[in-house]
Amino acid sequence: MEETFAMLKPDAIERGLVGNIISRIENKGYKIIQMRTSHLTADLIKEHYQHHLGKAFYPKLEAFMMRDQVLFIHLSGPNCIEGMRLLAGATNPNEALPGSIRGDFAFDMTENLIHTSDSPETAQIELRRFALI
Ligand code: TYD
Repeated sequence: MEETFAMLKPDAIERGLVGNIISRIENKGYKIIQMRTSHLTADLIKEHYQHHLGKAFYPKLEAFMMRDQVLFIHLSGPNCIEGMRLLAGATNPNEALPGSIRGDFAFDMTENLIHTSDSPETAQIELRRFALI
């Protein structure tokens, strides 16, 4: 059984898509262990998106991530790390397949609704970063 971290971004909250996205996670059969809303600080965003620091889109990404609340989700299920990446869809929503969250609801590279951890190591780091474990 795997555990992973997901974060619904400000656009998911603003657009009223939280229920729909959580339903998709539960319909798949994953178990929600813990959820919490939060406002991200610039420092936490810097840590979380350190691989993008200095890129041209970074200021836009930072402003977006601080625009509204986010929802942290700690969840578990068989193969849920890869499974959540598939449920989310490709980073670029224009390449995300219909049936995925980004494929169904997004078209903007920055406002792509959801983050999910990309490996077991990252999942543990991110669950700790956002104080879920
Ligand atoms: P990344 O870690 O590459 O993708 P993912 O979210 O699928 O794990 O990128 C992190 C976030 O950075 C991405 O969800 C949206 C933002 N981003 C942009 O705003 N513009 C870009 O050109 C890229 C590559 C990412």
